[in-house]
Amino acid sequence: MALELLPLHPGFGLEVRGLDLNGPVDAATWATLADAFQRAGVLVFRGQHLDEAGHVAFSRRFGALQVHVLKQFLTTPHPEIYVLSNVVREGKPIGNHKEGLNWHSDWSYKAEPAVGSILHARVCPAEGADTLFACMHQAYAALDAATQQRIDSLFAVHSYATYYGRAFADRTPLSDEQRAATPDVVHPLVRLHPNGRKALYVGREVVKEVLGVAPEEGAALLDRLNTHAVRPEWIYRHQWQPGDIVAWDNRNTMHQATDYDDTKYSRIMHRTTLAGEKPVPVRPMPVAA
Ligand code: SIN
Repeated sequence: MALELLPLHPGFGLEVRGLDLNGPVDAATWATLADAFQRAGVLVFRGQHLDEAGHVAFSRRFGALQVHVLKQFLTTPHPEIYVLSNVVREGKPIGNHKEGLNWHSDWSYKAEPAVGSILHARVCPAEGADTLFACMHQAYAALDAATQQRIDSLFAVHSYATYYGRAFADRTPLSDEQRAATPDVVHPLVRLHPNGRKALYVGREVVKEVLGVAPEEGAALLDRLNTHAVRPEWIYRHQWQPGDIVAWDNRNTMHQATDYDDTKYSRIMHRTTLAGEKPVPVRPMPVAA
């Protein structure tokens, strides 16, 4: 079967057809996929049903993998797999439930945020639980020139503790070890992707303040940018089927999980996360006097 790359949404995202990831992927095909990943931001592979080792091996072809700080959700024999799920076995959740309901890019709260993520659907609800992806190149390009110029030189604080406190207020707080592993970090509001294009770099709940502007002004700017970043024009909605794999580039997309009836349905998703890269700013951060 010939390899096909079909557009998912105007300007970003490709569905890859004609490829069985359970079989060998030759170097030429891999080069095509790597190029598509850089260009498109989101790659969808339907009906793959990889086992856990196969998922990890496939993910490693995109780059080195990293392990999530919430170790209680690394419940497969492969620590590289972070489990997202509402399923409880022997009294213990097998995965993190209600993760990623905010718009975000993975691990933006790290000094070197994850380059990409590869999510494999194992058990999916019959309705709900779609994942939305937004293109941050398109979001940046659609801003007016004055805003682009202003934010090109601004930096913001990303905070895992802030996200965790808001998303999981009803849970045991982060341990000292988890807090120590996730200190607040500063990133540009606009990052340069290796493909040469600029991408808006924001996120709800996780970006807590803009540096160098008054707090109310910074909060208003963040709210405006976060709202603009997810306009329907540049959103692709993925409706999951078991066996799907979606690989996305965290450097030029944001995503958001959506809710489902967790009293009626089970959901089990396995995610691997590609090691990080420090965001490249458009202009260097000013050095404090
Ligand atoms: C995530 O990686 O943020 C989770 C996405 C999802 O579970 O739909």
